[in-house]
Amino acid sequence: MKKKTRILLFLFLAMLLFISCRKKEELREKKKIKIGISLYDSYDTFISDYMKAFDGEVAEKRSKGYEVSVSRYNAARSQALQNEQVEEMLQNSCDVLCVNLVDRTAPSEIIDMAKKKNIPVIFFNRELVEEDLSQWNRLYYVGADAKQSGVLQGELIAKDVLEDGEGENGAVTLSPEVDKNQDGKIQYIIFEGEPGHQDAIMRTEYATGTLMKESIPLERLGYGIANWNRAEAQSKMMQLYSEFQDRIELIISNNDDMALGVIDAYDKIAVSKDNRPLIYGIDGTKVGLRAVEQGNLRATVYNDGRGQAKALFQLAFQLASGEETKGEEGGIRKIIRLPYSKVTKENCAEFLEEEERDSKQ
Ligand code: BGC
Ligand code: CA
Repeated sequence: MKKKTRILLFLFLAMLLFISCRKKEELREKKKIKIGISLYDSYDTFISDYMKAFDGEVAEKRSKGYEVSVSRYNAARSQALQNEQVEEMLQNSCDVLCVNLVDRTAPSEIIDMAKKKNIPVIFFNRELVEEDLSQWNRLYYVGADAKQSGVLQGELIAKDVLEDGEGENGAVTLSPEVDKNQDGKIQYIIFEGEPGHQDAIMRTEYATGTLMKESIPLERLGYGIANWNRAEAQSKMMQLYSEFQDRIELIISNNDDMALGVIDAYDKIAVSKDNRPLIYGIDGTKVGLRAVEQGNLRATVYNDGRGQAKALFQLAFQLASGEETKGEEGGIRKIIRLPYSKVTKENCAEFLEEEERDSKQ
């Protein structure tokens, strides 16, 4: 071997050795990370899909040699229980807490406890008010833009309700398939999530507001508060059906699970698919997407739970490693919101494929 080649070979081997030592060093530096999570209700369909995606993120990080431990609690819709869980997580020296508040107006006790121990808290999905978020600089929120979900749902409905183009004198023409009794108004029923939840308030307001902006005459026959829950929606729908029967032309639901409860009721009453009103949801949960695919749910709005879970995990990991996040202007970015998107029969396969791909990983 020529001298030059030998020197080059030597340099190359030395470089390899250096790189592998650095890698080991880096891994040693990565401390063990402990994340504490409390869920408002772990049986909520959207939240349980969300957590599956979160687990996927954790598994990926572990596969890269990081030690991530997660303790997860179900607050079962009790704020008092959630406060106790937070206390326990802090005692068990979690590095960061992820809290899906039961009562989004009552985070103070949690904030005080975390502050005392100087442990950052990321609230997610159930949005606390601005004033509470600014109680301390180590509080964060990961969620979505509630108003946008209502607007998109309204737009999806308007597209189906309006006949192409405008009527005479700028008046709107309603599709005879929706305005079944042809009275120039859409008789509808709305299913709402928990009272006081930011998504329930904004979705109801902006879905109907968007229809009114399109000058669609509306008549609300009734409403059901079903707390995001499929079974509750089913039983409310049975009552509403007995009252209004085939006068109902449209059903707007604040989420997919309640829309599915409405479909369950129609199945039970045995109204044929062609004779049902149009039903719209929000979330694009796995079950929701399948209902769109099968044509039982007319459309939904995708609430990017997977994107939110990823953002939540990344932020938790960063904070647990002692790094506060920097926004575009270099300041700490306290709020992360992911966008919603429209899902109809035409594009639901894309969303289902992504879901399937993720759940296989
Ligand atoms: C989802 C609902 C869910 C609720 C829980 C909302 O963003 O759309 O399906 O039940 O969050 O807080
Ligand atoms: Ca009508």
